[in-house]
Amino acid sequence: MSDIVTMEKITSLCKRRGFIYQSSEIYGGLSSAWDYGPLGVELKNRIAQFWWKEMTQLHDNIVGIDAAILMHPKVWEASGHVANFSDPLVDCKGCKMRFREDQLEEEFRKNKKCPNCGGELTEPRMFNLMFKTSIGPVQDASSVVYLRPETAQGIYVNFKNVVQTSRVKIPFGIAQIGKAFRNEITTKNFIFRTCEFEQMEMQYFIKPGEDDKWFEYWKKERIEYYEKLGIRKNKLRFHQHGPNELAFYAKDAYDVEYEFPFGFSEIEGIHNRTDYDLGQHTKFCGKEQNYLDEETKERFVPYVIETSAGLTRQVLVVLADAYDEDEAQGETRTVLRFHPKIAPVTVGVFPLVKKDGLAELAKKIELDLREEFSTFYDHGGAIGRRYRRQDEIGTPYGITIDYETKENNTVTLRFRDSMEQVRVNVNELSARIRQEIKDYKRS
Ligand code: GAP
Repeated sequence: MSDIVTMEKITSLCKRRGFIYQSSEIYGGLSSAWDYGPLGVELKNRIAQFWWKEMTQLHDNIVGIDAAILMHPKVWEASGHVANFSDPLVDCKGCKMRFREDQLEEEFRKNKKCPNCGGELTEPRMFNLMFKTSIGPVQDASSVVYLRPETAQGIYVNFKNVVQTSRVKIPFGIAQIGKAFRNEITTKNFIFRTCEFEQMEMQYFIKPGEDDKWFEYWKKERIEYYEKLGIRKNKLRFHQHGPNELAFYAKDAYDVEYEFPFGFSEIEGIHNRTDYDLGQHTKFCGKEQNYLDEETKERFVPYVIETSAGLTRQVLVVLADAYDEDEAQGETRTVLRFHPKIAPVTVGVFPLVKKDGLAELAKKIELDLREEFSTFYDHGGAIGRRYRRQDEIGTPYGITIDYETKENNTVTLRFRDSMEQVRVNVNELSARIRQEIKDYKRS
């Protein structure tokens, strides 16, 4: 089944149905930036809400924040990003193409030959990934600020604020969803790697010495999260970072990887960041970033286990995993098998025909369902076509109002995945859909 999905098919469906468009398309587009259309923004918001609920509400001891994108430039000196957040860049002297040296295949790296034209490559030079801008009208060294390359630092610099104002006790977590920016040398694969993206990060503050235990705990939690999101288990795996891959701040790190059409790739990082970040901020700001255990009266700098997921990258995971094609009435049907919890539209409502009061009746039913579900009303074209249009955007349930509805107050409830249909009394519709969402299992 997985062979059916290609990046071309996903990209084209996203454009055609209003999930994702190229940024500034009317001007020829800006490479590596994307805009979320009416269905894309619904999907992205639902994934964000799902993550937020899983990572804050469903735990006793995780709170949220929303920090500013622009931060004091010292933050990035302390975090190590100014000195270390760099990739090795090489240029082809012939065709002028640019590559990340560490991503070149061994043969090209060794022979310094361009994979595109065979020309000679320059020596690698380190290129910092942070976007620099300036604050205020005068652009000089004192006005430099960076667009944050990760949301995590907004959490660390607020560690003391949160401890002092929200009565959290170690172990506890702080979660955040927000934009991050990286001047990536190579961007490809649609929304997989972009210069502007969104992260969903959670920093879990623990007692030093308990890091291995909590690391294992979060690894398990995070893989289960993707299964709850409806992602197929056999498409997920862990990859442990070897010594050459570890980020400068990490003692141990695992990536959650998903099998995209272009192969297994990272979708989330789980990192043991030790006391590195809080320790660095203590040094740079001169204020102790530590924690007092009120029971033992012990004061210490907490260790941090971080779970760092890309929201925009997760949109691609969900789209790639949901994409399917099957046969329906002798035609190929394109269907997105989203989990109903995150589908942009939950219920499509269709009068069989517009006349004889069926359209009015259907509209009334749709208005009632709107209170609880995201709905879409459609009376245009043959009913089969209307079903296909909803299948293609992943709407899990369809309701058809017909002449029988006028006689006995029942409608047809159609299931996207199986295309099966059952009759349901209008008074029981909401409860039935609610139950179906709860019990949903992908076939
Ligand atoms: N705070 C730790 C951190 O930022 P990371 O492994 O560099 O760790 C975490 O990034 C996640 O953020 C990645 O697993 C990915 O999902 C997402 N991400 C990173 N760079 C990205 C980019 N250029 N475009 C889209 N998503 C990106």
